Amino acid sequence: MTPIGVFDSGFGGLTILRDLRRALPGADFLYLGDNARAPYGSRSFELVYRFTLQAVKYLFGQGCPLVILACNTASAKALRSIQQRDLASIDPERRVLGVIRPTVEAIADSTTTGSVGLFGTPGTVASHSYDIEIEKHAPGTRVFSHACPMWVPLVENSEADGDGADYFVKKDVDALFDPHPDIDTLILGCTHYPLLLDKIRKYVPTGVTILSQGDIVAKSLIDYLQRHPEMDARISRGGTVRYLTTESADKFDGLASEFMGEKVKATAIRLE
Ligand code: DGL
Repeated sequence: MTPIGVFDSGFGGLTILRDLRRALPGADFLYLGDNARAPYGSRSFELVYRFTLQAVKYLFGQGCPLVILACNTASAKALRSIQQRDLASIDPERRVLGVIRPTVEAIADSTTTGSVGLFGTPGTVASHSYDIEIEKHAPGTRVFSHACPMWVPLVENSEADGDGADYFVKKDVDALFDPHPDIDTLILGCTHYPLLLDKIRKYVPTGVTILSQGDIVAKSLIDYLQRHPEMDARISRGGTVRYLTTESADKFDGLASEFMGEKVKATAIRLE
């Protein structure tokens, strides 16, 4: 089997996987969540790079010809080095793609005020990856970023529906929108954040468009596979999805099953 690999620090990449499966129902997928070491958002550049490279090598070892980093933090801190430095020595025929570039390409079509808000992990915000990419693709757009360090831990600890989540979501939404009422487009620049979408919608001012990264990344992958038929032909088409986690499988299965709307039975692995 030669599935599409989908990697995230934990549960967040499931929000991307769900849309990828909808877009490519015939393809095989292999999901890997590094739940034991999540969150990545407050970790150093060096660590996120090292952990992400381990995950990519593992997924290549499982037969994936293509790996999607379904994680903004890994896309911001590790993607470029892996693409430009590591791939040539690991296997120049395989590919690793991220989520930031396709998201940025969708922004230009969405904003009319030219003011865009970004929620992300501390690592993604500090990397300025979105600012740099937006300046290339939609020059002149103003990006107001705000880091939400509590949101990923809330999701990873199954607290996304709790009252504590309301407190932190409201606090961060107000911190971004109170000083910048002209923001008309909001990027959820962390794949965990759609798991808090109901609460985010509750506090974000009406009329603001919230960009859904799953949908954007799925469309971009279809486009990529059309432009690269040699890669398209290498992906096996059994319509299966398998799950790997670095935490205990039981812990993963509960929340993942709830989110994917079907029974998930993960296999625990070690990354090193
Ligand atoms: N879901 C990830 C992202 O998109 C990582 C969050 C984290 O581990 O802090 O940034």
